[in-house]
Amino acid sequence: MEFIMSCLSVGDSGNLSIGGCDVAGLAEQYGTPAYIMDEDKIRENCRVYNRAMEEYYNGNGIVLYASKALSCKYIYRIMKEENMGIDVVSGGELYTALSAFFPAEKIYFHGNNKTADELKMALESGVGRIVVDNIFELETLEELAEKLDRTVDIMFRIKPGIDAHTHSFIRTGQIDSKFGVALETGEAEEIVVKADSMERINVVGVHCHIGSQIFELEPFELAAEKMMNFIADIKEKYGIELSELNLGGGYGIKYTENDSPINYDKYIQAVSKVVTGISEARGIKLPYIVMEPGRSITAETGITVYRVGAVKEIPGVRTYISVDGGMGDNPRYILYESEYEALRVNSPADAKTMTATIAGKCCESGDILIKDAKLPAIKPGDLIAVLATGAYNYSMASNYNRIPRPPIVMVSGGESRLAVKRESYDDIIANDL
Ligand code: LLP
Repeated sequence: MEFIMSCLSVGDSGNLSIGGCDVAGLAEQYGTPAYIMDEDKIRENCRVYNRAMEEYYNGNGIVLYASKALSCKYIYRIMKEENMGIDVVSGGELYTALSAFFPAEKIYFHGNNKTADELKMALESGVGRIVVDNIFELETLEELAEKLDRTVDIMFRIKPGIDAHTHSFIRTGQIDSKFGVALETGEAEEIVVKADSMERINVVGVHCHIGSQIFELEPFELAAEKMMNFIADIKEKYGIELSELNLGGGYGIKYTENDSPINYDKYIQAVSKVVTGISEARGIKLPYIVMEPGRSITAETGITVYRVGAVKEIPGVRTYISVDGGMGDNPRYILYESEYEALRVNSPADAKTMTATIAGKCCESGDILIKDAKLPAIKPGDLIAVLATGAYNYSMASNYNRIPRPPIVMVSGGESRLAVKRESYDDIIANDL
């Protein structure tokens, strides 16, 4: 039996197995709900990207893991061991990475409204690059660098004016976006020239990220083309050399049978052709290439296991299966109406005879994990696994209704260990005075 995630199989017990570990056994050991992730698969995904960087850019670049997809100390340790860089977007992510001894020089600091305190923390810890979003940030940074007697290597976040076909909440490359400076209005050119005249600022390059969960090649090629031409224009017009090009992340993953992601290798190969082509045509040096995949590193390595409580059949309307988690651990349905697939943990390959909506336990009608899921018969007490929850689930989880966040269990080589403990009720009241 093939599942949409390659790390899943049916084990000898007849139960679902992830990375060689029995999911029912893990649920017994760690409780439910629980995020369970295949560490070996995470590492393999990093290697696919690093190999592609070698192959298509002769290693002249770096792959950053966009850690907003899943941020915890354990994952930063993996990224360090796999020779990845990381992208962080807040003081909290930066702090977590540094506390896991992630090398500061391989950290790129993003965000459309970094506070002065966050910028100070970034400078003092020696992060590799600050990806500056706007003029206000640039000026704040120059002042701070002056005060701290430092110079800062920066890139600019640029909106290349590309409308990628994805949910409007995760689309970022178009002009009407809160992120970055626009190309076509001349804003990008202006800010680069201004920064070039600043004493404490070293403009290393430019960055773009057009959106997330994108399945087509074209928007990536187009973005690369626009960015390369921008680099060439700036060189021609002002003699300013931008030596680094960060092309962001955004590669789509398979949440359900209906998703058909392109092999990541293909995207990278196609984009590298555009980059080298323009570099030759316009006579500019090949820039140092930066990529920032997040979702495609972790999403398909994780599942969330829940215990079923009530099964409520509303005759002629719908059947609800209620589980012991919900929008607190996976807010993606309520935010984007995202689609997922689920499996019954015991005998997952049995015929799917039931259509039911998997609902969470929060006091909120929209607290749904999957609408009209197709499953084998489900009864109270069964275990259900929702698939491909390894990205933007734990990292976006909340304590709504004061429900503790689930643990993250990592499996590797048939063994399991905790990466993040389950929250306790005491954790929940820890800051209450
Ligand atoms: N680089 C930048 C600057 C980004 O803003 C993002 C994602 C990435 C890289 C990584 O993109 P990825 O490879 O993961 O698609 N919460 C939403 C996704 C928000 C993405 C935000 N930026 C979701 O659950 O779908």
